[in-house]
Parts: sequence; structure tokens; C-alpha cells
Amino acid sequence: MHRKLLRTKSIEGHAKSDLKKCLTAFDLALLGIGCAIGTGIFVLTGIAAATQSGPAVVLSFIIAGVASAFAALSYAELAASVGGSGSAYGYSYVAFGEFIAWVMGWILLLEYGVGAAAVANGWSGYFINTLSNFNVVLPEALTKAPMLGGLINLPAFAIIWLLTILLMVGVKESARFNNIIVMIKLTTIAIFIGLASLHLNTDNWQPFMPFGWFSTLENGKNIGVLAGASLVFFAYFGFDAVSTAAEEAKNPQRDLPIGLIASLTFCTIIYIIVSALLTGIVPYTELNVSSPVAFALTKIGYTWASTLVATGVLAGLITVLLVLLYGLTRILFSMSRDGLISPVFSQVNPDRQTPTKIILLCGAVVSIVAGFIPLGELAETVNIGTLASFVMVCVGVIVLRKRQPHLHRPFKNPWNPLIPTLGILSCSALMTFLPAVTWMRFGIWIMLGVLVYFVYSMHHSKLNH
Ligand code: ALA
Repeated sequence: MHRKLLRTKSIEGHAKSDLKKCLTAFDLALLGIGCAIGTGIFVLTGIAAATQSGPAVVLSFIIAGVASAFAALSYAELAASVGGSGSAYGYSYVAFGEFIAWVMGWILLLEYGVGAAAVANGWSGYFINTLSNFNVVLPEALTKAPMLGGLINLPAFAIIWLLTILLMVGVKESARFNNIIVMIKLTTIAIFIGLASLHLNTDNWQPFMPFGWFSTLENGKNIGVLAGASLVFFAYFGFDAVSTAAEEAKNPQRDLPIGLIASLTFCTIIYIIVSALLTGIVPYTELNVSSPVAFALTKIGYTWASTLVATGVLAGLITVLLVLLYGLTRILFSMSRDGLISPVFSQVNPDRQTPTKIILLCGAVVSIVAGFIPLGELAETVNIGTLASFVMVCVGVIVLRKRQPHLHRPFKNPWNPLIPTLGILSCSALMTFLPAVTWMRFGIWIMLGVLVYFVYSMHHSKLNH
């Protein structure tokens, strides 16, 4: 009875949204691409090639892409049938009930919040580099977090606030801005692909797999193609943000599956081409630098293109940040509407038609994390959270097919339960390739979430009143 109420309530709640419905399938696909193509392909490809996969980083991208594809198909089914702005949180609510949904929401907050703060730090690094090319040098105290001997990472802090203000102005304006920058980012990738193909030297692909498939070093670091896959998986995180825009989509049941699958397919193709070319024009051993794509172009003699591409990357990382912040606010919005977080945060501003209070809260918290905490290794923490949420979405598809067989499903996975099962297996396998320390951090975060649930959320849940 209680669970039935939960499910009904959640589905009805999503239908009664005050958010503006204005996003098309094209906007949604660009939203996914805008969030996915970023630090993963522009920075982590080089690190993974040099330290974990060698030229076989292409295989790492394919493996991570296949696991993401199974999850994308599962997301598409739930986004089209359950809908709502809460993404995996909303689906878990309907499939499993409140407690699991809360844990899922808690994991998504880690993914999106820490992900945004990490990308802001990466953006800051590129920004400081670009400024120094124009002989503008910021005081060191304003470019580093206190733990690294500075006062604040001001560019990281400021970029979060700039985007927070943009999101408060309204979603359509933000989506239009996103579309323009995604185009700039894709143009810079096209320039790289065009120039790099002229200088491909297949000798650089030998040895192809210098670190093997998988092994753990004495210092606890995992190496090999599979460990590389669990790192470059960061590049795929973000396409699922498309599902958080369900309530702002014009025709969600048709457009969400298109947006999800189109953005993932597009990104996978780009990643395969870029990573193959990168390791084909420069020996993989030299790629452990902060801007490998720009570095490789300089190496083959295109300094002008290197500067251009670096500028494109700066713009590209802005769209990643924008979509991450957007997704974060919409997940909190859903959790607040269900009473698990103060209801103040699910009020929609009548003039702007956006949840301004929650956007402000997210901006404040993420900017502080980005400005004051160095987030180096946290990409892996984001990955473990993302993989866990992918697994839960796949389980959700199987459970809902059983529990609600008559639910209207405009998009259905063929051969059920094959695809979600493959998703569960491949995403769980990628989780096991992550280092032990990442598992420890993740465990602490989950325990904290469970504590918050029993101390606050359980007693404030709307369903208990
Ligand atoms: N996938 C995004 C990136 O690579 C988060 O930056």
C-alpha cells in the first residue's frame, strides 16, 4: 500500500510541473554533448594513454562507451515512461521506494556537485595558461586553494557564479548559449582531426598495449586498458543529464530517447577518432600533460591551431559546467518536491519560471568547493558514483517491467532483460577496476547520506504526512 502510494505520487508529481517546456530533441542532444565532451577527452585521454592504457586508450574508450550505451538505452526507457526532472533519483523512487531513491539522489549530488567543481578547477588551469600567453599573470594566492599554499582558486570560484547567474535568467536562454558553445567546441575538434590526420604516424601505435589489460601496482594504482576504461569513463558522464530536462522538454516521450542515444553515439565516435589520432601523432609516453590536445598540435608544428584549440577547450568546459550545474539543480528540485529536502527549494520563481533558490544554493556550495578544495583525483570518485547510478537505472528497468507491466512505455528496450542486464554487468565491472581509495571515499559518502536520511529526510518526507 505504502509503496503503491509512493509510485503513484511520484508519477503524478512529475506531471504537475511549473517549469517552462521549451527544449527540442536537438536542444536535448546538444545538452548531452555539451556536458559529455570535456575534461575526459581533452585531459584524461593523455593521462590514461601515458600511464594506464598506452595507444590502446582507444579500446578503453570503446569499453567505457559500450557500458554507457547499455545504460543509455535503460535511461531512455525510464525517461520516456517515468519522466520527471530527477533522473535516476526519480526512477528509483518509482521502482524501489523512498530509501533507495534517497541514496540514489545522494549519489547524484556527489556526481554532479563534485564533477562541476572538478571541471571548474580544470577550466581554471586552462584559463590561467591562456592568460599567461597574453602576459597576464594572476597573483599565485588567487589561483590556488589554501591546501596548495594559496588563498582561493578565484577563476574556478568565479566561473561557477557566472554560470549560476546564467541559469537563473532562464532555461531557454541557457540552452541557446549552450548550443552556440557546443558548435564552437565541435569546430575546434574538427580542426584537430583535420590537422592530425595529415601527420598520422602508425609507428606511434607500437607497442599498442604496453600496460596489458589490468594489474595493480605496489602503490595501489591500477594500470592496464581496463583501469584506463574506468578512468576515461569520466568522458561519458554527462550525457545522462539529458534525462534531468524531462520536464522542460516539449515532447519528452519522443525527444528524450532521441536526445540520449544521439548524444552518446556522437560522443563515442568523436572519442575514438580523437584518442586514436592523439596517440598516432605523438608517442603516448609524452602525453601526461595538462592540455594534451594543444600540446600535440604544437608538437607537429601548428602553434596557431594549438592556441585556437585551447580557446575552444575553454569554451567547451563552460558548457560541461553549465549542464552539470543545471542537472544538479533539477535533481535537488525533485528531492525537495518530495519533501526530503526543505520545500523552500522546490518553489519556482513565477517571473523566471526557474527554481531560483535552489540554483543559488548550488552555485554557493559548488563555488566554495571549487574555490577552496583542490580536486585532483576526484574524477574517479565522480566515476564510481556515475557507475553506481547507471547500475541502479538498469536494475530499475527490470524491476519496473515486473512491477508495472502495463506502464505506458513509448520507448522499450528490445529483448528485455538482456540490455539492462548487460548494463549492470559492464558498469559493475568498471567499478571494480577503480582503486581501493575511491571505494573508501564512496563508502563514506553513502554512510553520510544514510545518516542524513534517518535524521532528517525520513521525518520530513511528504509521503509520511
Ligand atoms: N564528461 C565530462 C567531461 O569529460 C564531465 O568533462
